[in-house]
Amino acid sequence: MLNHGYKLKPRSSAHISMVQVLIMSFTLMLMIVILFLVFDNINDNVDVDVNVNVNDNDNDGVKPSFTYESPKQKWNSFDSLVKLNPTREFRNGTDLIWQVPESPKGVIFLAHGCNGKAINFWDKSFECSDCIGLPEERLLVLHALAQRFAVVTISSEHRCWTYGKELLVVKDILEWWIGKRRLGKLPLVALGASSGGYFVSLLATVKKFNSIVLMIAEGMFEEIDINEDYPPTLFVHMPKDLYRQQKIDEYVEVLKDKRIDVGVVECMEFPLSPGTLADRIPGLDQTLSKILFEIFKEKGFVDQNGYMRKDGRKTKWKKVLEERKNILIDKHLIPHIQEELNLAFAYHEMTSVHSDQIFKWIESHMR
Ligand SMILES: *[C@@H]1O[C@H](CO)[C@@H](O)[C@H](O)[C@H]1NC(C)=O
Repeated sequence: MLNHGYKLKPRSSAHISMVQVLIMSFTLMLMIVILFLVFDNINDNVDVDVNVNVNDNDNDGVKPSFTYESPKQKWNSFDSLVKLNPTREFRNGTDLIWQVPESPKGVIFLAHGCNGKAINFWDKSFECSDCIGLPEERLLVLHALAQRFAVVTISSEHRCWTYGKELLVVKDILEWWIGKRRLGKLPLVALGASSGGYFVSLLATVKKFNSIVLMIAEGMFEEIDINEDYPPTLFVHMPKDLYRQQKIDEYVEVLKDKRIDVGVVECMEFPLSPGTLADRIPGLDQTLSKILFEIFKEKGFVDQNGYMRKDGRKTKWKKVLEERKNILIDKHLIPHIQEELNLAFAYHEMTSVHSDQIFKWIESHMR
């Protein structure tokens, strides 16, 4: 696409021999072919759930561990280990929903993105009748509980988090809650996605955390005067979002320069299969999952390998389903399906897919 329209003047290049030019062009072509083959190979292998861990136990932990995998966890994978059984409270004009497992070894605060709320993290239940239980949010909570973290979720006052007084409100709520539950001796961690990620990057300047996880957010490091006290930071991001990818590369260097421990987890797209939606979403059965997958294929929303062609938000799947009067979908499941489609495209969405890696990293930064 770039065309600067400059021409080679034949006379001035007379010194470079034809042979040199040929060798250079050949080398370049060879490199392109090799690159192409490598990437093609990666793409082919995605179907069989390849986990390319380029870098797992690197000393500085900075190079991204690069994973290309379909989600392993099903919505009910944790049934034998933990159950969601939260408590809801109201404080400082907002709500917090929390659960403490038996003998907790840490506390994790989870911050939602824009349009999110604490109710998105927990299944609808007697305790929480308006809870929504989005697939990624609830799995993240289940992972945390299974790792024996006390989980606390708080709703932002507005649609997105704000970066003034709200920082102090959340600090207050956390301190009050931690004091009341007598969890003050345990390591404290925060994970925020998108708007929640920006928020957490700033919250870490007013409240001490053992580590923070910034998901699909580069953080607000231009506003922060980083000192040695800033907590170890893990970026969990989707490289397809090039702008954020570049910002994160930049901030990783900034933090490293200040001797802050940094980690990076990259989340790649994965192909949908007929069972994906049923595997991830409580209350969506295999039959419906298969029907939806077939429609997405027929409409060209996914390619022949099952990959989303566009972000879920840009795909007109809801319109198509409305037109098919014979398909009955519980309206409550629309946001859940939307989330999984966005996740499969891997541009910008909450993800629990890399929870194993995330908690491994968190546990290596508990002191
Ligand atoms: C939160 O509520 C408590 C108790 O009502 C109050 O003391 C505290 O000042 C409030 N914090 C903020 C930041 O508004």
